[in-house]
Amino acid sequence: MSPMRLPFVLCTLALAALSAAMSGCGSHAADTNASGATQAPATNAVANAAPQAQTRAEVFAHVKQMTTLGEKLFFDPSLSGSGKLACASCHSPSHAFGPPNALSVQLGGNDMHQPGFRAVPSLEYLQSVPAFTRHFHDSDDEGDESVDAGPTGGLTWDGRVDHGSDQARIPLLSSFEMGSTPAKVAAAVKASPYADDFRKAFGANVFDSDDKTFAAVLQSLEAFEQTPATFYPYTSKFDAFLAGRAKLNDAEMHGLQLFNDENKGNCASCHISQRAKDGSPPQFSDFGLIAIGVPRNRALPVNQNPKFHDLGACGPERTDLKGQDEYCGIFRTPSLRNVATRKTFFHNGIYHKLDDVVRFYVERDTNPEKFYPVSKNGAVDKFDDLPKQYWANINTGPPFDRKKGDKPALDEAEIKDVVAFLDTLTDGYDPAKDKDSQKGIGIGQMKSASN
Ligand code: HEC
Ligand code: HEC
Repeated sequence: MSPMRLPFVLCTLALAALSAAMSGCGSHAADTNASGATQAPATNAVANAAPQAQTRAEVFAHVKQMTTLGEKLFFDPSLSGSGKLACASCHSPSHAFGPPNALSVQLGGNDMHQPGFRAVPSLEYLQSVPAFTRHFHDSDDEGDESVDAGPTGGLTWDGRVDHGSDQARIPLLSSFEMGSTPAKVAAAVKASPYADDFRKAFGANVFDSDDKTFAAVLQSLEAFEQTPATFYPYTSKFDAFLAGRAKLNDAEMHGLQLFNDENKGNCASCHISQRAKDGSPPQFSDFGLIAIGVPRNRALPVNQNPKFHDLGACGPERTDLKGQDEYCGIFRTPSLRNVATRKTFFHNGIYHKLDDVVRFYVERDTNPEKFYPVSKNGAVDKFDDLPKQYWANINTGPPFDRKKGDKPALDEAEIKDVVAFLDTLTDGYDPAKDKDSQKGIGIGQMKSASN
């Protein structure tokens, strides 16, 4: 049984702008992020630009200005140290804002040769990711708020920031990503064709200090990332199916059933496939941070050092939970919407085909030799990317509850069907253009068949 998480309405932007005028967004206004340090400048930027007592219409007009600027910034390589790398270089709009290629990690830095050590996540469907918390209690979980779903939420694979504006600071300043500085970013914006629009949106004094400009840049990027039609359109075949406008073919429907079935894939226990109780569409993630023991990606330069381990929430990128063993090896469950547009999977980008990912789930424990190094004497170095003292964190629920030699939870034909179902989660489906959209099984038949 998995908790359903209510979408976390993105109120922070509008709220910061509106001060206390808008009700319903409540406590998020006072959120501090995980590191606690970087919230103030961004909020100030909006406060500067949005004097007290704005009307709702004025606030939304301001958000719109920021969104337009954010889009320009997102595609502008001049913000980077090399002048060659934009956000969009790694977060490709034609790949659901995920990686444009099959590389495990992308290259960046001033010489464009510095490898990162994590796969580029999609930027779509992040609007429902809750702020990071160590103990997630969900009032929607069959009314029982006492259930602790554990560490949940936050942006990046390890959940270390809560807001798009704080997130954007990371790649802009990282030596292996955009390798820039607030001063360079400010100079680039000042010299850009959209400098005047910046003054219009943030006030004539926005270029008075680099910090002010940089904060406005971060806020604009966050606004852009919250554009519904671009970042959470809900236009997949599965959405059309849920709305009764398309049917799933046999393979897709079988795949969905295997995805949901606790005794088969059990995928939906983490990648939630049902509408939330408020009727909002499924996000295909519960946003929990979980250790699933993904194999070490030996192709990553950083892993040439045998002592290096990317331990997710307990470090090294994230520092506030350092030394707390229970957070070691855990990474945020990604949404599977648009997952078929990717060619790189898991936090370290080890797999490049969806069927390999599904095979890992169902054969990790039955046939570990397929995924982990095997020594000459035949011993399998299982969970080779996580030091043994953290193994207690590794998930052993279904389909990870099998033993060596057991029958895998899914056979090859079933793996194929799960992949066929995952293909229905890609946005941009139009039932009117699919001559087969009414062939197969509709939502009505599905309900009576399996719920
Ligand atoms: C060199 C490639 C690269 C560039 C350029 C880049 N990113 Fe990223 N982005 C990544 C990687 C890798 C991660 C995952 C980082 C982690 O987990 O530590 C990420 C994570 C994110 C996330 C969090 C996604 C999630 O699932 O929580 C957001 C938001 C984001 N980037 C926005 C941006 C913005 C905005 C820019 C431009 C200012 C940008 N990125 C530039 C590689 C890049
Ligand atoms: C116990 C929770 C859990 C279950 C059950 C689960 N997943 Fe995941 N899934 C995760 C987590 C956590 C990650 C990220 C792991 C990492 O990168 O270290 C992930 C990542 C993925 C990815 C990679 C996505 C990307 O963008 O890189 C795919 C694909 C995926 N899961 C599909 C499935 C399928 C199919 C099933 C059922 C066979 C399944 N998952 C069952 C938690 C779960």
